Amino acid sequence: MRLRYVKGAKELIASKPELIIDNINNEFIDLDKLFNNDFPIHIEIGMGKGKFVYTKAKQNPNINFIGIERFDSVIVRALEKAIEEPLSNLMLLRTDASDLREIFGNKTIERVYLNFSDPWPKDRHAKRRLTHKNFLNIYKDLLKDNCELHFKTDNKDLFQFSFEELTKYPMNITYMELDLHNSDFKGNIMTEFEEKFSRLGNKIYKLTAIF
Ligand SMILES: C[S@@+](CC[C@H](N)C(=O)[O-])C[C@H]1O[C@@H](n2cnc3c(N)ncnc32)[C@H](O)[C@@H]1O
Repeated sequence: MRLRYVKGAKELIASKPELIIDNINNEFIDLDKLFNNDFPIHIEIGMGKGKFVYTKAKQNPNINFIGIERFDSVIVRALEKAIEEPLSNLMLLRTDASDLREIFGNKTIERVYLNFSDPWPKDRHAKRRLTHKNFLNIYKDLLKDNCELHFKTDNKDLFQFSFEELTKYPMNITYMELDLHNSDFKGNIMTEFEEKFSRLGNKIYKLTAIF
């Protein structure tokens, strides 16, 4: 994704600790204290500008959501939405996914969403893909038993890689659709990238899986 420097992003993020955590030092976050209730916690990793996680949070007040993104210049767009209309069940977290094990406790999360993750097409970058087994190891630690990973993309090669990585792990595939927008699936929430790529006529692939 092409990144633009956004003037004032760092300062805005720093000024809204009630809406966003800028986890520069990978400090542990006590999730019980963060939301002050015992609703389940779902996270989206690589949320971009946050339309998906924001809409999910708005539609599901009894679930707590954490939208995770590593770049200031991107997450600040989600922060702007949250400033306009804050949601008590949504928190934003600026960090890299590879640090999540240090930040969240084991078995604290009930769902992980990965939407339109960067495909990193070169083989030598495979470890950066968010469905690489190194990341699956992290999700396994975070997710409570029998809780799902949800993955969507329009990128066939990434989908194929992810399917193989998950089944090899081994994870059980609990749902798979190779043309989501022309399927019976109800309640799909389009992400920013999903809107862009489906407009170009790309098919959207989705799967869910459990460890
Ligand atoms: C292609 S964009 C998709 C954004 C959004 N999910 C959507 O569907 O519109 C992928 C996003 O994942 C973020 N990302 C990639 N690797 C990440 C990582 N290791 N940790 C956190 N965010 C990551 C990127 O910065 C980028 O904003």
